[in-house]
Amino acid sequence: MERSPSNPARNSTRTVADALQKMSLGEREMHCDVHGTTYTSAGISLLGGRKEIWGPCPDCAEDREVAERRAEVERCAEIERQRLHAAFGAAKIPRRYTGMSFEAFNADSHEKVKALDMVQKFVSDFDLRVEDGGGLILAGRPGTGKTMLACIALQAIAPKHVGLYIGALDAVRALRATWSKNSQRTEMEVLEDLGGVPLLVLDEVGVQFGTDAERNQLFEVLDRRYREQRPSILVTNRDVAGLKETLGERVFDRLTETSKMVVFDWESHRPKAQPARAAANDPNSPKLAA
Ligand SMILES: Nc1ncnc2c1ncn2[C@@H]1O[C@H](COP(=O)(O)OP(=O)(O)OP(=O)(O)O)[C@@H](O)[C@H]1O
Ligand SMILES: [Mg+2]
Ligand SMILES: [Zn+2]
Repeated sequence: MERSPSNPARNSTRTVADALQKMSLGEREMHCDVHGTTYTSAGISLLGGRKEIWGPCPDCAEDREVAERRAEVERCAEIERQRLHAAFGAAKIPRRYTGMSFEAFNADSHEKVKALDMVQKFVSDFDLRVEDGGGLILAGRPGTGKTMLACIALQAIAPKHVGLYIGALDAVRALRATWSKNSQRTEMEVLEDLGGVPLLVLDEVGVQFGTDAERNQLFEVLDRRYREQRPSILVTNRDVAGLKETLGERVFDRLTETSKMVVFDWESHRPKAQPARAAANDPNSPKLAA
């Protein structure tokens, strides 16, 4: 079909001019099926009476605004998450714990229930922790689920909040790598990332640092977080005295001021973590029919 030869710009000007001939229709009571409420809505008539628009339910309008704001926050967080993952190759949640949620943690004793509760509470109150910088120290025996719970917490604060998982030695390595003249990033940039991420999970804190320089680098990171009131989860095999020795008194003091200690003092779950193999080796376990 032939298109109208008339000027499209003039057409749209006319449409706008039409639309502007709006007339107030006054107010009327309307019912919102979503909220089950009655509200007063103001109406206008547009296009010379061919179209009517009535104001939305105020609760629906607010819901929409909140959803839009949340989507915006999540979009920014995702961009930051991808930037950090690109910047810290070594800093990824280990595959063993990706996709895990709190339900995976078997809390079959009073102590485990308590540890689980503390980490869950940390997550549910994370908006407050972002303000006050309160963190956690998960300390205790090997195989007791410390890394598991820390990684679950990290995933549970997403998509709203950004976190970074890194082993303490990898953090030190990432800082030291910037001393090389081929480094793409400055030490300050790496410090700002480790110090600035909304949640830092620092795993394997307890391996004795080789040099004072390394200990100082870790101090820099944790002191930044302390000063800016940013929460961290430290994971360690050491007890209180051992942690103090590893970190040095300055870091230890800051940490104990801002963090709650969760003690993991029970048998390792490692043998139970491979049920298929355990069952195959157990003569009493029921065998599958051939
Ligand atoms: N309460 C639990 N319920 C289910 N699985 C668990 C539980 N605790 C630990 N596991 C599993 O046991 C294995 C060891 O847990 P994890 O790696 O978290 O131990 P850890 O405390 O970090 O040990 P380490 O100090 O040696 O690093 C993992 O496969 C983990 O998923
Ligand atoms: Mg661990
Ligand atoms: Zn509504």
